[in-house]
Amino acid sequence: MRRNPLAYLDAELNALREQGVYRRLRVLDGEQKAHATVDHTSVVNLSSNNYLGLTTHPRLRERALAAVRDLGVGSGSVRTIAGTMEIHVELERRLAAFKQTDAAVVFQSGFTANAGTVSSILGRDDVIISDELNHASIIDGARLSRATIKVFPHADVDAARGIVRGLPATQRKLLITDGVFSMDGDLGRLPALCDIADEFGCVMMVDDAHASGVFGHNGRGTVDHFGVHGRVDVQVGTLSKAIGALGGYVAGNRALIDFLHHRARPFLFSTSHPPSVAAACLAALDVLESEPTLMEHLWDNTRFFKAGLQALGFNTGISESPITPVIVGEGAMAMKLSDRLFAAGVFAQGIAFPTVAKDKARVRTIVTATHTRDELQFALDAFAQVGRELGII
Ligand SMILES: Cc1ncc(COP(=O)(O)O)c(C=O)c1O
Repeated sequence: MRRNPLAYLDAELNALREQGVYRRLRVLDGEQKAHATVDHTSVVNLSSNNYLGLTTHPRLRERALAAVRDLGVGSGSVRTIAGTMEIHVELERRLAAFKQTDAAVVFQSGFTANAGTVSSILGRDDVIISDELNHASIIDGARLSRATIKVFPHADVDAARGIVRGLPATQRKLLITDGVFSMDGDLGRLPALCDIADEFGCVMMVDDAHASGVFGHNGRGTVDHFGVHGRVDVQVGTLSKAIGALGGYVAGNRALIDFLHHRARPFLFSTSHPPSVAAACLAALDVLESEPTLMEHLWDNTRFFKAGLQALGFNTGISESPITPVIVGEGAMAMKLSDRLFAAGVFAQGIAFPTVAKDKARVRTIVTATHTRDELQFALDAFAQVGRELGII
């Protein structure tokens, strides 16, 4: 009989089970909504990135369905061969206008937008100066670029400045931060980082995956929120979170976008979006402009829920956004809290190492514009009860 050369994976999985951090995938039985059915259980859903509820918005559905009828279900090719449809180009024009840049290019995901961009615009002789909590796609892109990676402690602008100052003036440098940090919900220190980039001639890049649709005028993101238009050379956004569909994009000047057309490997070597996805994203941009009350609801709900968790005595860290972590320390405790909440009718995912530091495991909550006050109060009551039972508060 053939020996199983993958047996070592079983051992690794068993170790996860012993540590109490093994996760089975939870399955959504219907639509991605604020009140959802997950694993056949009706729950208040605090785990999605569906900030504005656009995953099920009627205007997005209609545009996607019309695109299926008019244009089919797939693009049939990578962008650089035969997979650039007029609707892809239209979406990129709209995204550039949304971000107030010359041009934009859409990738298959936010992940590939980050990884494909960082890995292609930097090379082995260059340096990347990166916040320690930047998203995995930035870290992977940095590794693929073969540039030297210098990591500064989270949000420590002085440390970033110290690193940059110590580098030769002639060396090419990329200074990069998340706009909103996905596990802590705090904001990148954009104005101060832009000052460093201006002073030392760094390329300035922001990953606004969790900020687009959430911060800035009509959801334009942190560049707009902080008023640093024209000072950020590379803006990444995602179409998979507040926009409600799938994809990522880079917005910047024409040369950057042209260069990515020629060198970004996910753009060159992976098929473009089905037209229905581009159509849904176009409808989402219309909704951002015409329904500003969605963002208002999102922020009202955010303030209410964050204040409720804090009043109960939970450690919610340094969040400034609709992402509010409930930090408990041990990975096993985070998973226990998440499981007990689920049994009480609240879906809030536990997150442990390696996604966050070993002693900073948490349950991460994200409210949306479409949660009702009753749903949020129900969730707070469940947090209060379970938090007390587990001795967290
Ligand atoms: C900060 C950040 N950047 C990028 C991404 C990747 O975006 P996408 O889900 O569109 O691949 C995520 C999402 O997981 C994220 O949290």
